[in-house]
Amino acid sequence: MASQTQRKVPVAHTITNIGGTPPQEAMVDKIVQAFTITPEYLEQITQHFLSEMRKGLNQEDQTIAMIPSFVEGRLTGEEIGQFLALDLGGTNLRVVLVDLQGRGNFTTKSTKYKVSEHLKTGDVKELYNFIADCIDSFLTEHNLDYGTADIHLGYTFSFPVYQSKINRGLQKQWTKGFNCSGAIGKDPVILLQDALAKKHVPVLVSALVNDTVGTLLSNAYSKPETNAGIILGTGSNGAYIEKMSNIRKWTGGATSSDEMIINMEFGAFDNERVILPVTPWDNKLDRESINPHKQIFEKMISGMYLGEIARNVLLELVDRTLLFEGYSSKELNSQWGFETTYMSTIEADQGDSLKNTHRVLASSLNIPNVSEVDCRIVKRVCDLVGTRAARLAAAAIAGIVRQSSSVQDGCDIGIDGSLYEFYPSFEQRIEQGLTELFPDVPDINKKIRLGLAKDGSGVGAALCACVAKKMAESKPSQ
Ligand code: GLC
Repeated sequence: MASQTQRKVPVAHTITNIGGTPPQEAMVDKIVQAFTITPEYLEQITQHFLSEMRKGLNQEDQTIAMIPSFVEGRLTGEEIGQFLALDLGGTNLRVVLVDLQGRGNFTTKSTKYKVSEHLKTGDVKELYNFIADCIDSFLTEHNLDYGTADIHLGYTFSFPVYQSKINRGLQKQWTKGFNCSGAIGKDPVILLQDALAKKHVPVLVSALVNDTVGTLLSNAYSKPETNAGIILGTGSNGAYIEKMSNIRKWTGGATSSDEMIINMEFGAFDNERVILPVTPWDNKLDRESINPHKQIFEKMISGMYLGEIARNVLLELVDRTLLFEGYSSKELNSQWGFETTYMSTIEADQGDSLKNTHRVLASSLNIPNVSEVDCRIVKRVCDLVGTRAARLAAAAIAGIVRQSSSVQDGCDIGIDGSLYEFYPSFEQRIEQGLTELFPDVPDINKKIRLGLAKDGSGVGAALCACVAKKMAESKPSQ
C-alpha cells in the first residue's frame, strides 16, 4: 500500500443570491465583510506569519514556538521493519502496527479507542493507565509477541512539547479539548513508559513525535522532495525542514546533519491579535473555550472549531429575528451543537431547494421553522467560515514555503486531517489563496504540490521509531 490514496474530494457549491428581506441582506453583507480576506490582506497576514516564524527560530518562548524536533536529516527510503505507533491528540486514540517495507511502501493495522471527556480533563495518570490498557489489548488482539525483545513504539503526541531528545521532552501545554492535571512540565514518554511498566507491557517508547512531524516523514517516505507536513483536522499545525544555521536559538550542540525538522506549533500564531481578522463570533468561541486567549489561529482554521464559529453567527441572526423566524432549538443553543460535519454537508449541497441543508437544520438540529431563505443564509455563513479557514491555512503554507525553499524548485507538502480530507473544496480554496500569494509564479499549484498524507501520523511515528532505533544501535554508549 502506498501512502497516497485516491480520494473523491467533495466540491462546495457557493450561492450568491440569498433572496432575503432588506434587513437580512444587510446583515449577510456585514457578515461577508467580517469574514472576507482580500488578496492584499492575505499577503499582510503571510508576511506577519513569516516574521513570527523567524522570531521563534531566534528565541525561546515566542508566540510561534518553532520547536526543534530532534529529527535530523532526511529519510533514505530504506527504513524497514515492524513498529508500533500510538496516536494521541486527534478525535480518537489510535494504536497502529506499521510494517515498513521500504521506498514508501507499508502496511498498517490499527484500532481506535474513544477517549472519554472525563479522561481528557482528569488526572493524567488515569489517561496513561487507559492508554497502557489499550496497547496491551492491541498486542493481544494482533497476537504480537516478540519474545524477549521489546517492541519499539513511536508516540505521536499532538500537543506542544519542548523536546530535548528524539524520545524526551517536557509538555508545554494542552490544546484542543484536553486539559488533564499533572502533565504540564512532565515528559509524556516517561508517563507512558511508567504506565506500561506497571502493567508489564513489553513495549519500548523510542520516539516522541508531533503529528505534523510524523506527517512530514510519512510523506517523505515516498516523496523525497517533501518539505513540510501539515495537519488540518481537529487542530492545526505545521512542521518543515529548516537549516540548522537558521535555528539561532539552538543550544543542543553538534548535530549529524545540517537540517532539522521544526514543529512550529503555529496554532498559537497571533495570540496577541495584531493581524488576524478576529470577529465577535470568534471572540465568543474563544472566551467560552477551555483555553481562552490561546491558539487563536487554530481556533479560526480547525475542525474542532469551525462549526462553533458558524453557530455563533447563526445565533446572532436568530436573536435579530433574521433567521428561523427568531426561534432556535436546544441543539443549536448548545455549545458545539453545530458540528463541522454539518457544514460539510451544507457546503456540498446544491440545487434550488437545498434539501440536505434543510434536513440538517430541521432533523439534526430540530429547528422548527426553516425556510428556503434560511437555508441559503446558513449555507452562505458556512461558506464564509470555511473559506476564511482555508485562506488562512494558505497563508501559513505560503509562510513555510517562503522561509524554507525556493518556490521555483518546487516541493511536496504532505497534509493530513479531516478538514483537508473531507471538507468540500478546502484544498481548492487553499490553492486559490496560494495563487494570490505567489502572483509571479505561474502554475504555483504544480510547484507547491499539496497531497493527502493519509494516516501520516501513524506511519511517521513508526518511521521515527525506526530512525531512533538505528541511532540508538549506532551509539551504544548513550
Ligand atoms: C494542536 C497541537 C499541535 C498539533 C495540532 C494538530 O495545535 O498543539 O501539537 O500538531 O493540534 O493536531
